Amino acid sequence: MAAADAIFPEGFVWGAATAAYQVEGAVQEGGRGPSIWDTFSHTPGKILNGDTGDVACDGFHRVPEDVALMGELGLGAYRFSVAWPRVFPDGAGRPNAAGLDFYRRLVDTLRAAGIEPYPTLYHWDLPQALQDGGGWANRDTAKRFGEYAQTVATALGGGVGHWTTINEPWVAAFLGHLTGNHAPGVRNLRTALAAAHHLLLAHAEGTAALRAELPAGSAVGIALNLAPVEPAGDANADAEAADRQDAYLNRWFLDPLFRGTYPDDLLSRFGEDAPPVAAGDLERIAAPLDFLGINYYFRSVVAHDPTSSPVGARQLTPPGRPTTAMGWEVYPEGLYEILTRVHRDYAPSALYVTENGAAFSDRPTDGAVDDPDREAYLHDHLLQAYRAIEAGVPLRGYFAWSLLDNFEWAFGYARRFGIVHVDFATQARTIKRSGRWYAGVTRENGVRG
Ligand code: FCB
Repeated sequence: MAAADAIFPEGFVWGAATAAYQVEGAVQEGGRGPSIWDTFSHTPGKILNGDTGDVACDGFHRVPEDVALMGELGLGAYRFSVAWPRVFPDGAGRPNAAGLDFYRRLVDTLRAAGIEPYPTLYHWDLPQALQDGGGWANRDTAKRFGEYAQTVATALGGGVGHWTTINEPWVAAFLGHLTGNHAPGVRNLRTALAAAHHLLLAHAEGTAALRAELPAGSAVGIALNLAPVEPAGDANADAEAADRQDAYLNRWFLDPLFRGTYPDDLLSRFGEDAPPVAAGDLERIAAPLDFLGINYYFRSVVAHDPTSSPVGARQLTPPGRPTTAMGWEVYPEGLYEILTRVHRDYAPSALYVTENGAAFSDRPTDGAVDDPDREAYLHDHLLQAYRAIEAGVPLRGYFAWSLLDNFEWAFGYARRFGIVHVDFATQARTIKRSGRWYAGVTRENGVRG
């Protein structure tokens, strides 16, 4: 064995991830109701090239084919999301049996192939009917989420061991309600902070419902987008901006989940816009988790800039550093830094990297897709994950984002993250070079030299 081999602990979970609206398509089939992403993507000017998720990867119709691909990649687990509007087309009332059947079939197909299902209950596709009633700005939405979680747990319970409540509440709250780049496209700090709080409350309601419904031994967690934060320059002002950015991006969610408090420094800064916290909310949000999922793509480098909303920190890409097609800096050490920091400061009992990956503009040539940049990105991040394990972090698994090229939100189909290429005209799938390489990783349980 070469010195640089990184062989992961036995039982380490190797997976890949997707999300319902990004891959399923079939938005009007099987009784599905509209979501805020249908509304948003059909609003002119919101999505690059006017793309929508109407067809996406046609995943709804291609479960056997896609699960077979996962088998070729040697995946032990598949992280997907359940579309709330397939289960509750009108947001509430009676669940849609056809929607639940679809996920039951998916779970059965995965298990028959020896692949563990890791469903996420909310990856941003809120039923439009709930948005019409105020969406995440309305506290009731958290209650509706609890009912939805209970319904899905009853339907899939026995076949699923690992459940994630919410994906990236920071993105859902702030890109959806402050910058307006994501659905529902609101631009208001007070609304965004209310949405963030109600997303955490939904996590609490969902966790309680799952625990009540699921067999003992089932694991419940949440997936946060986290990143180490660095000041852009040496000035004190930049260092202070980095502290504020860390409070906004990381601690705003980690503190309530693990300590039952919001960061004081930011609460006072937000003043009258601070979230509507009712008695008992924070205790419930801080109920113990079985695992924390971390989605990591790039670090946050910020400069002091009072005009940058909402914390006076302007995110920039350090000059001269490599970037992906998203313009995101490639900084693998950041994965080690965030994993060890979260372990040190919050000590979750188990951690997963629930997303990590990169967009590059790759093209098939002669039926093959050569994407050495993505392979290098995954390789270098996996070595940092391994370093974190060696440093004592209880990291139990890693999910590459993404299994397939798919609908990348505001960027539509113009950004490809897949380890499998999708030709959106024919829906042909081609495992990329990075996917073949990843199949070697899952087979060897690690990265060779
Ligand atoms: C994350 C999202 C995921 C995907 C990647 C690139 O923020 O959770 O759906 O879009 O970014």
